[in-house]
Amino acid sequence: MKIGILKESGIENRVALLPDNVKTLIDLKSKVAVEKGAGERSFSSDQSYIEKGAEIVDRSSILNNSDLIISIHPLGDDEYSKLREGQSILTAYSPLINMALVKLFVEKSITTFSMDMVPRTTRAQSMDILSSMATVAGYKAVLEAANHLPSFFPMFMTAAGTIRPSKVLILGAGVAGLQAIATARKLGAQVEAFDVRSAVKEEVQSLGAKFIEVEGARDDKNAGGYAVEQTEEYKQKQKQLIQDHAKKANVVITTAQIPGRKAPVLITKDTVENMLPGSVIIDLASSTGGNCEHTKDNETVVVNNVKIIGNSNFASEILNSILLMRLFVALALHTIKKLLTNE
Ligand code: NAI
Repeated sequence: MKIGILKESGIENRVALLPDNVKTLIDLKSKVAVEKGAGERSFSSDQSYIEKGAEIVDRSSILNNSDLIISIHPLGDDEYSKLREGQSILTAYSPLINMALVKLFVEKSITTFSMDMVPRTTRAQSMDILSSMATVAGYKAVLEAANHLPSFFPMFMTAAGTIRPSKVLILGAGVAGLQAIATARKLGAQVEAFDVRSAVKEEVQSLGAKFIEVEGARDDKNAGGYAVEQTEEYKQKQKQLIQDHAKKANVVITTAQIPGRKAPVLITKDTVENMLPGSVIIDLASSTGGNCEHTKDNETVVVNNVKIIGNSNFASEILNSILLMRLFVALALHTIKKLLTNE
């Protein structure tokens, strides 16, 4: 099998396969071609891929000649026309919200593996890119907030007086939210968290945060542990509760998502109007519409002296942590090995 690794574009720093993993694929009797410069921003030179047995080629060569094309983000829109029947793509392209792409793949008989759709069962845990990347995002979001906050996270007792710890509100306590709670607590903040899934209450409390609740959430046992759309009545109650707590918070980190849908709006314009001056909102759901009405994806806006940072790409920013980048790679590798050995 000919495997091609693409260079990522835009603000992405990661690469889907690091040089160390090339040999594993070659040992499985496949050929590996890497797009020129693909590993540069992950501290992996073309030479280091060559030394492990890969060939360095241009992008069109990968698109034309690979049986399996691997990338973190999907191809550019104009590149699908260059693919031919029978090729396979391994990437993460959110098929639930990209139906047009799914139809195109069906028309062209292209097999795709979207890593974000791997069921999150115990057996598939080693392929769960959502969890590994959400862990990075939750951690990095807190550091980013601490950086922008014009105050301390921990309590300080000084000769001049006592500085109260910052109040951090986390909305959505899935993988990213729980990591954010843990990180904010380690930095000494007072943390509160809210989620529609009451099942996370114990997890939130075990990390030392307070769980804030709204009665009457819809919890669908068939949703695989994910959140489902809530009733209008519930949304009204939720809006009030969040507003009451956001008003007192110095930092709000929002992580709420519903698979296959636009992210729910949890912080309205009205809530931002009532927040403390100097407070910071980090919206990790910005790429799917954002949890705050003011959020702009990949931008920072300031409204009423509240800084709102829309960033769903923190996973790409932890560059000195090679280990975490490898995680994506290792997981993809696991899937490729299964393909090659027909397991
Ligand atoms: P996600 O990224 O889809 O959403 C983040 C959080 O936002 C979730 O906790 C969700 O309940 C919450 N949310 C959605 N709408 C909301 C609203 N209107 N208000 C407040 N919160 C809202 O979630 P993630 O992190 O992908 O986790 C989803 C599920 O997958 C969880 O049940 C988690 O325990 C499970 N999981 C299972 C794993 C395994 O078994 N291997 C590994 C990792 C996660």
